[in-house]
Amino acid sequence: MCGIVGYIGRQEAAPVVLEGLTRLEHRGYDSAGVAVLGNRGVRVVKQAGRVRDLAGVLPKRFAGATGIGHTRWATHGPATDANAHPHTDEAGRVAVVHNGIIDNSAALRAELADAGVTLASDTDTEVLAHLVARSDADTLEGKVRDALGAVVGTYGLAVLHADFPDRIVVARNGSPLVVGVGDKEMYVASDLAAIVRHTTTVAVLDDGEMATVTAAGFSTMRHRDLVATGKTAAQLDVDAASYEAGEHESFMRKEILEQPTTAQAVLRGRLDERFGTAHLGGLDMDARDLRAVRRVKILGCGSAYYVGQMGAALIEELARIPADAEAASEFRYRNPVIEPDTLYVAVSQSGETIDTLLAVQEVRRKGGRCVGLVNVVGSAIARECDGGIYLHAGPEVAVASTKALTNMFLAFALLALQLGRVRDLSIADGKRLVAGLERLPGQIEEVLAGEADLVEVAKDLAEARSLFFIGRVRGFPVAREGAQKFKEISYRHAEAYQTSELKHGPLALIDPEVPTVALVPHDELAERNVGALHEIEARKGPLVVITHEDVDLGEVSARRIVVPRNEPELDPILLNVPLQLLAYHAAQHLGHDIDKPRNLAKSVTVE
Ligand code: F6R
Repeated sequence: MCGIVGYIGRQEAAPVVLEGLTRLEHRGYDSAGVAVLGNRGVRVVKQAGRVRDLAGVLPKRFAGATGIGHTRWATHGPATDANAHPHTDEAGRVAVVHNGIIDNSAALRAELADAGVTLASDTDTEVLAHLVARSDADTLEGKVRDALGAVVGTYGLAVLHADFPDRIVVARNGSPLVVGVGDKEMYVASDLAAIVRHTTTVAVLDDGEMATVTAAGFSTMRHRDLVATGKTAAQLDVDAASYEAGEHESFMRKEILEQPTTAQAVLRGRLDERFGTAHLGGLDMDARDLRAVRRVKILGCGSAYYVGQMGAALIEELARIPADAEAASEFRYRNPVIEPDTLYVAVSQSGETIDTLLAVQEVRRKGGRCVGLVNVVGSAIARECDGGIYLHAGPEVAVASTKALTNMFLAFALLALQLGRVRDLSIADGKRLVAGLERLPGQIEEVLAGEADLVEVAKDLAEARSLFFIGRVRGFPVAREGAQKFKEISYRHAEAYQTSELKHGPLALIDPEVPTVALVPHDELAERNVGALHEIEARKGPLVVITHEDVDLGEVSARRIVVPRNEPELDPILLNVPLQLLAYHAAQHLGHDIDKPRNLAKSVTVE
C-alpha cells in the first residue's frame, strides 16, 4: 500500500526520492508527492496519478538536499491532488508523509477546525502536520513527540520542518520504517526496495521508536519521552540485483522462473536424510514441545490462506494432528477460543499484512503460542511471533505472489514432517518425503520448461468471461489459489469449487463459454475426478486438465497439461506451477499491467 522515501545529503533530493518511489510502485498506489527543504523553505508537489506523471510536473528549480516523498493508496478521502501526501500546515513550514491510519483523526480534525485551522484535505494524515506546527516544543523531535502524543493509530511517518533544515524526523508505530546509511548522506524508507540500490546498511525502527536523520548520521529514541534507544545500523545480506526485473518483462515472470532456486533456499540445511525429518531451529520448540501440540490453526490472508489450507492438509496427513486454516481477517472478530495446546501458525510473505498481524496479537494476548512462516526478515509479524520459519524466497515484488507461496508450502511440508516424526510418521515415510522434497526444485524446473505449451491454452482461457477451477481434497486449495491468481491479474471471474460439489450447483453454469481448469493428479480420487470431467464435457464445457502422465482420461477431450509425479502429499506444489503460468500468460495476452494489477496492493497494511 502506501510508500515512504526520504533523502538527506549532498545531492538534489527530489530525483533520489522520485526514483525511490518508483521502486515502491508495486505496492499499489493512486497518488504521489514529494517535498523538498532548501533555501526557499519547504516546497511540495503532489497529485493523483503515477510517479512518472509527478516527475513530469516538478518545477525546473525544485532544489533542496533534503526531501521526503510518498505514494498514497486512498483510505481517508478519495484519490485527489489535495489528499495526496506530503501534507503541510497552513504556513507551509511543516511537511509530513504517513503510512497507516490515525484512528482518532475525526476528533482531531474537529478540534483543529474549532481552533481556526483550515484543513486542506480529507485525510487523517493532515492533522499530524498541524499538530507538529502547533507544538511549542523547541526541537523538531519534541514537536513530533507532542503530535504523536495526541494521535491514536498506526504510523510510519517522516517529517520536514523549515526551522530545522538539517534533519528529517521519522517515527514508527505498526508501519515499517528503515533508515539507510550512505556516505555523508542518509535515506529513509518504508521498504528496503526503495533504497537498496544506494545502501544495504540499515537500521530497522521498532514500534514506538523515532529517529533523527541528518546527512551525517542518525540517532534513535522512544517517541513517548525521547529517551535514547541507541540503535545502530547493520549490513544486510541482500543482493540489490534481486530487486530488479533484469531481462524479464515483468517481476512476476522473473519470480515464477526463480522458483527452482528459491525452493532450494527454503529447504537448505533443514532436511535430515538420515532420520527422515526436518530441523527447524527458528521454531524454538524441542521434541517435547512439538509432541504437546494437539491441534494446529493456520492464519493467513488471500493466497497465504489458501496455502495455509494446503499446509493444514499436509499436517493432518503426516502428523495426524487436527489442523485447519482460517482467514486471518475474520479470525479476530469472532472472539476465538485460544487453546494452550494448539500451535498457531501465521503465514505471510510481507510480514506486514495488518489482518494477520492483528490475529497474531490476539492469539498472543490470550496466551497462545504463535509461530510465523514469513518471507521478510524482521517484519512486524516475524517479530510478533514466538518463533518461526523464514521462507528465504528473496524479495517478491510482483503483487501476485508466486515464489513465496511455493516456499510457504515447502515450509509447511518441513513443519508437517517434523511434527509427524515426533509422532507416528515412520522413518521410512519420513525418508520418502525428504527424498520427495529434494526432488521438487528440479521438477518445478521441468514444469517451467513446458511453458511454451501453455501459452495458447492461456490465451483461450483469457477470452472467457468466467471460469471454474476445480480440485478435490489436496487439490482443492490449489484450485482456489489458481482461481485467485487468474482473477487477480486477468480480471476475469474465476471461481474455485470442489470437483465433488459441481453437481450440487455450479454445473448449472457449465456451457461452451465457461471453461474449467481441473486438477486430476494420480491419486485415489483420479477415477472419480475423471467422472466429473465427463459431466462437464457432456454440457460442452471446455476443459483444461492438469494431471500426471499415467492418469487415464479415457474418452474425455481436454487440453492436457502434464506435471511430473512426486510423493502424493507433495502434489499441490507441482500442480500449482502451471496455474501460475496460465494466469501470467492470460494477463499478458490481455495486455494488463501484470506486476501492478488494478485495485490491489502488495502488502495490505490497513484493515
Ligand atoms: C495473492 C496475494 C494476496 C496475498 C495476501 C497476503 O497473489 O498476493 O492474496 O497473498 O494479501 O499477503 P502476505 O502474504 O504478504 O501476508
